[in-house]
Amino acid sequence: MEETLKLYEDVESWRTVIFLYNAALKEVGTKLEILNDEFKHVHKYNPIEYIKSRIKKPESIVKKLKRHNLDINVDNMINHINDIAGVRIVCSFTSDIYKVAEMIGKQNDLTVISVKDYIRNPKQSGYQSFHVIVYYTVQTINGPKRIHVEIQIRTLAMNFWATIEHSLQYKYRRNIPDRIRERLNASAEAILKLDQEMSSIHDEI
Ligand code: GTP
Ligand code: MG
Repeated sequence: MEETLKLYEDVESWRTVIFLYNAALKEVGTKLEILNDEFKHVHKYNPIEYIKSRIKKPESIVKKLKRHNLDINVDNMINHINDIAGVRIVCSFTSDIYKVAEMIGKQNDLTVISVKDYIRNPKQSGYQSFHVIVYYTVQTINGPKRIHVEIQIRTLAMNFWATIEHSLQYKYRRNIPDRIRERLNASAEAILKLDQEMSSIHDEI
């Protein structure tokens, strides 16, 4: 009896938590779209091409907790996993990424907790992106709840690379063969050149 009750409580708290992450994701997504609209209104130009949001799948949350040698429970999930709610912002140009990041930093209702600039410092894999982890406060019937949201900002070209590389990681279970790794590294360099060239052409306008 005790056991069943505990399990039931866990499932309920899991549902509540996922509900909160979903709420945070919706509000942050709308907020970013409004900022993009305002930017367009003021500068006649929109730095954001599109925004995509996702909630991490339960099996991915469990896998990540295991990878970090943590017990599978709702507390650990809230305290140790920053990317349950994820927003991806895709821009045309690298300079737009920094404009968007600056805009995020100026918001009163978003508290930046960490920043990772994988554009100035690409990962070993060749991965490029700008990551910001923020807190956003969701208002619930029981008062405010602080929720982590991971925001990834990248160019269309960086996104192209990351999407392909991600599906290869999946296909090869994180053990991409060397010959493909080499080609991915070469592609990452080509992506960097392409982004630089497109920015330079854009500057001519
Ligand atoms: P995880 O990688 O998610 O365990 O988190 P972390 O704390 O190591 O943070 P990191 O900044 O390394 O990665 C956060 C997210 O960025 C990942 O969940 C991916 O979505 C993305 N990412 C990081 N590295 C790579 C990479 O090499 N390739 C691709 N395709 N995506 C990456
Ligand atoms: Mg990682």
